[in-house]
Amino acid sequence: MSADRKIEEIIKAISGKDIAIADKYHTLSGNERKKVIETLKPKGLKSLTNLIKKAKKRSFELANKRFISIAEGKLQTPVYLIDETLIEENMRILKYVKDRTGCRILHALKAYASFTTFPVMKKYLDGVCASGLNEARLGYEEFGGKVHTFGAAYREDEIRQILKYSKAIIFNSFYQLQEYGEKTKKGNVEIGLRVNPGHAEVTNRMYNPCAPYSRLGIINEVFKEEFPKYRGMVDGLHFHAMCEQNSDVLERILNSFERLYGEYIKELKWVNFGGGHHITRDDYNLELLIKLINTFKKKYKVEVYLEPGEASVLNAGVLISSVLDIVKNKMEIAILDTSAEAHMPDVLLMPYRPCIIDSGKPGEKKYAYRIAGPTCLAGDIMGDYSFDKPLKRGDKLIFTDMALYTIVKNTTFNGINLPDIAVIRDGGKVELVRRFSYKDYRNRQS
Ligand SMILES: Cc1ncc(COP(=O)(O)O)c(C=O)c1O
Repeated sequence: MSADRKIEEIIKAISGKDIAIADKYHTLSGNERKKVIETLKPKGLKSLTNLIKKAKKRSFELANKRFISIAEGKLQTPVYLIDETLIEENMRILKYVKDRTGCRILHALKAYASFTTFPVMKKYLDGVCASGLNEARLGYEEFGGKVHTFGAAYREDEIRQILKYSKAIIFNSFYQLQEYGEKTKKGNVEIGLRVNPGHAEVTNRMYNPCAPYSRLGIINEVFKEEFPKYRGMVDGLHFHAMCEQNSDVLERILNSFERLYGEYIKELKWVNFGGGHHITRDDYNLELLIKLINTFKKKYKVEVYLEPGEASVLNAGVLISSVLDIVKNKMEIAILDTSAEAHMPDVLLMPYRPCIIDSGKPGEKKYAYRIAGPTCLAGDIMGDYSFDKPLKRGDKLIFTDMALYTIVKNTTFNGINLPDIAVIRDGGKVELVRRFSYKDYRNRQS
């Protein structure tokens, strides 16, 4: 079929309910997608967004069955099982935001750095954001594209290498800019400054980069005083103020950011809106995000960057574990071969109760259990759950949404082994990518 016919067909079908149109849109070339977007009226664009979101939702709804059937097979536990096709579904949503806005999207390596799936991700994104030398190097070597590095403070003995791997470096203070700015310019690396946008709605202090006394981002009083001395040296401003939030929160942050820093933006090349945008979540308001970026770009004539981490791999992986034993102490307690403390630390840090496929809240189903880890930590507990059938030793439990902030943060506390990493490739083949052993534990000790 000719390109024009394909485009025509998509445009005609957009007002219908056929989500296959979303797939067709994703397979168009960049120019063809551009043409679709330019041709559609606002109502048509909204319909396209809805179809794209629905198609993504459907793919994720089918995923649990696949995870269950793989868990029932021979895969050794514990194992992080990542579905590459689901990552690709998330990538398509991010790419759609790029199509509609011309913004750039960097994947935040801090959330997920399993480079075995980078070939799929780099087709859609512009590069990565890194938190320091090792992430910058991994991004440079394994992802490619742009590497933007932000660290709260850089070590003198690492800066040369960080500059080698980065296309942009973002400083957290004027002292750091003064110290490393010249070197950065000489290395042809762009300079950004992280600022505190003066507004954040993250209620959990542990995850609020703009909480009182935060060290993350130059505050406006300091910025106003110091920035004029460095005019012409800075390419972009960066803020990061969100955590698992929707675009209405971004709108309010942008209002504050523009009020505080608006007068400086026009002389810059880019503004980075940070991470914490839950772009790939079903209830995320994509149209508002698109509007905010387009309005901002038009007003200030700068590039806009987003650097989500979670959104890249949201719901795209599970952690499968087995019941090792069931003990009793006024309640039934199932001890698993995986640990909240060591393998899913955000469960305890945040804290939150991870979802287990086919389980309910306590009391919802007939058989109730506390689900816990095998370490000595009394609080190594995932939570209280209920099931339709009694649990028995050897049963598999599947924790959902375990690709993000797990593998990058896990530990070998108590000497317990790290879970395997396996990937469901496009086509359904399951590949065991990595198995850890005593050596991995030993090498980290001394
Ligand atoms: C500077 C910066 N950018 C991006 C991110 C990624 O955030 P998320 O994974 O919540 O999207 C973070 C997370 O802490 C961050 O600190």
